[in-house]
Amino acid sequence: MLDPIPNHSASPHPLQVVVLAAGKGTRMRSAHPKVLQPLAGRPLLAHVLHTASALAAQRAIIVVGHGAEKVRAQFAPAGVDFVVQAPQLGTGHAVLQAAPLLDDTAVVLVLYGDVPLVRPATLAPLLDIAASGHLALLTVTLNDPTGYGRIMRDAAGVVQRIVEHKDAGPAERAVREVNTGIVAAPAGLLKRWVAGLRNDNAQGEYYLTDIVALARAEGVPVQAVACADPHETLGVNDRAQLAQLERIVQGRQAQALLAEGVTLADPARIDIRGELRCGQDVLIDVGCVFEGRVELADGVHVGPHCVLRDCSVGEGGRVEAFSHIDGARCGPGVRIGPYARLRPGTELAEHVHVGNFTEIKNSHIGPASKANHLSYVGDASVGARVNIGAGTITCNYDGVNKHRTIIEDDVFIGSDTQLVAPVRVGQGATLGAGTTLTTDAPPNQLTLSRARQATVPGWARPVKQDKQGS
Ligand code: UD1
Ligand code: MG
Repeated sequence: MLDPIPNHSASPHPLQVVVLAAGKGTRMRSAHPKVLQPLAGRPLLAHVLHTASALAAQRAIIVVGHGAEKVRAQFAPAGVDFVVQAPQLGTGHAVLQAAPLLDDTAVVLVLYGDVPLVRPATLAPLLDIAASGHLALLTVTLNDPTGYGRIMRDAAGVVQRIVEHKDAGPAERAVREVNTGIVAAPAGLLKRWVAGLRNDNAQGEYYLTDIVALARAEGVPVQAVACADPHETLGVNDRAQLAQLERIVQGRQAQALLAEGVTLADPARIDIRGELRCGQDVLIDVGCVFEGRVELADGVHVGPHCVLRDCSVGEGGRVEAFSHIDGARCGPGVRIGPYARLRPGTELAEHVHVGNFTEIKNSHIGPASKANHLSYVGDASVGARVNIGAGTITCNYDGVNKHRTIIEDDVFIGSDTQLVAPVRVGQGATLGAGTTLTTDAPPNQLTLSRARQATVPGWARPVKQDKQGS
């Protein structure tokens, strides 16, 4: 799930990323830390770390506070460092907690754990500015700048300081260019600046934004980089914003698929919560959800309202409407659904057909075999060219243990048959409809368990008496 942080120590100014993630996220009204909330199937923080990784960060330091243990437990395997900020005394105070871990020669990029959509290409110019010894800010111009820190420039347009909304007067509030919160600076300077912050402001906090005035006082140039797409700098404070960002991410993913040559019946009606890889001429109808890693080979068609999780479909495969595939590998030319369910451990060889209301679990189905209607196949090995009739059930579970069913090549199973595992059906065997198979069926013969049909001579159906006449 997480991208490891690569070690690029060769650079003269290695990149170290500080991610601010100590805030409580009260407005999410959740028992979980905000940065663990999922966006497109991955925690918000995973998106931010992915960005750090794409920028070849040598180190990522996460400032945690509220829910620190949960964040640490989930992200420790990603090879990142954590510093705890308690209590939370402001963004400048948060960066100060990370200062002991920063190398003086490094370039430091400060990101927010709840601002997940900023693109690496947008951040790259900030890193160049910081590598040249200056302070870089990512700014954005908003129609409604309420709540944000305003970028204050002098008459020549040079950035002088940032004024937080709560500290700003009317003239300052009229400024629409705002601080996104994302900054980059040489580590040595940043460490000195955050150590010198004061909290004599409207919120009684140590503002990271005050480093701009400190830089100017020392004569260090401050350069603002404008972010052209305001979507990139959106933060998540409540569920409505999380939902808004989800749509943006899904839209980006859909556009990427279209650009790769995938046909989407409606780019607004697809959800990818993981990684979807598609070959050429893949077609995806409306309302499909893809989770985990899904691979669709050339020419695959997925019908409307399917859910595909951690699975693959081979060349030319068809998945018809309302099918659910989880943890299955499906070969070329398969026909699945409508209304099929494939569960983990299912392997379908080429040209297998699985029809409506058929469930398959932990089973291998050989080439060109068919289970077209209303069947359950679990813990089974099915050979090639087998026909599994409607209503066939492998009775794989005795309440304690799971047992395997083996069905060899070219078997024909009549409808409404139960195979009580462990049991084997020999090659070319035929099972008569309605059979309850409890011992192995020999190859190439008809086996059936069925009470002999009888007709009762002279039997008459009872006739209802007419109550009125009695
Ligand atoms: C901050 C900026 C503001 C900017 C805005 C953009 C400051 C003082 N203000 O304001 O200029 O326009 O972001 O969204 O920096 N955090 C901690 N520890 C703390 C405080 C915050 O880790 O003690 C984290 C939060 O979890 C969050 C981020 O820092 O991820 C920003 O905090 P937030 O309280 O949202 O800052 P704003 O007041 O919005
Ligand atoms: Mg904020």
